[in-house]
Amino acid sequence: MTTQTAFLDHNSTTALKPQVLEAMLPWLTQPTGNPTSRHVFGRNAREALELARKQIAACVGVQASQVVFTSGGTEANNFAIKGITANLSPSQLLISGIEHPCVTRPAQSLAWHDWKVATIGVDSQGVIDLAQAEQALSARTGLVSAMLANNETGAIQPVAELAQLAKAHGALLHTDAVQAFGKIDVNMSALGVHAMTISSHKIGGPIGVGALIVDKRVDIAPLLHGGGQERGLRSGTENVAGIIGFAQAAQLAMQSMASRHTTVKQLRDQLESGLNRLGAVIFAQQAERLPNTSFFAIPNIEGETLVTALDKVGFAVASGSACSSDSTEPSHVLLAMGITPDLARGAVRVSLSDSNTSEEITQFLAALQQQVQRLKGLNAVAA
Ligand SMILES: Cc1ncc(COP(=O)(O)O)c(C=O)c1O
Repeated sequence: MTTQTAFLDHNSTTALKPQVLEAMLPWLTQPTGNPTSRHVFGRNAREALELARKQIAACVGVQASQVVFTSGGTEANNFAIKGITANLSPSQLLISGIEHPCVTRPAQSLAWHDWKVATIGVDSQGVIDLAQAEQALSARTGLVSAMLANNETGAIQPVAELAQLAKAHGALLHTDAVQAFGKIDVNMSALGVHAMTISSHKIGGPIGVGALIVDKRVDIAPLLHGGGQERGLRSGTENVAGIIGFAQAAQLAMQSMASRHTTVKQLRDQLESGLNRLGAVIFAQQAERLPNTSFFAIPNIEGETLVTALDKVGFAVASGSACSSDSTEPSHVLLAMGITPDLARGAVRVSLSDSNTSEEITQFLAALQQQVQRLKGLNAVAA
């Protein structure tokens, strides 16, 4: 591993926080028991698991019994889409045009089961168009799925308003809050949604843990059948250490949210004033955004090329829809915003945390300027 590289890709994953590791270690290194076992080890594991459930529930303003632990955001989104629609008669599923593939793909799979899948567009700032949503909603809409904050642009979505509209048409609403959770206030009750996805590794917790929070009135079918864990909604021995780490990370994220918000916002402002000087186009800049995320393009420079060049000189950033695949297709989020494919191919995402420093941003901007000049020079030779 290159130790000199500055990590500017925190929307893809984050380092495990030391306090999280500390909380997890006893559950990894000592005999812990299976939470379904009746002996003392099993009972201790069950007790720790239920405490973690309460802690996660408190972070999002719900009751512990609403939290179903999963293997991460991907499973929770699949569970929401497939599990909720399984108990409804086939009708219309509405998703926004900027969803993560772990929402779009299960949604597309429902077309095989007679569901009509329709997309709600976004405006030029990457924010869901509520007027379009209202037009698309009807008594035939069974479920709406719309993310709370976009992983690429950071644009925060009007999910509470959408939930009101959905309710008025008798539809259920699921939100993917994976990127929002831990970065901005996320209260499921205030949002008024019926199901919500969160994930641990975006907030300094371990990879491979997440949760779907489900309103008790929602009849949801399990994806995984077996020993009946998680109230029969998600069979499989619970990842006790991972869940404890997730709860610890969530609590730490709540405690530090305000100060982190200020720190990362200052770093992003520094970054974006430098980007403006370099002639970058910053996407969704007029939208209310996550404070840590900046998505931009330098016209006529390929995002993939820039990301590779920056990696070589010590800066880890992402291009396009980075956490989904190694596809070189332009970001579907940018295309949904009406950005031209050419400009969208230039997209680079910087996502910060409070572990980043102002010095790193200064160095990053200098490196970016150098690489842009170099690549423009190569383009000129090739032309
Ligand atoms: C918005 C969004 N939803 C879902 C996921 C998937 O979460 P996980 O990596 O926990 O499966 C991601 C991951 O990048 C994401 O950004």
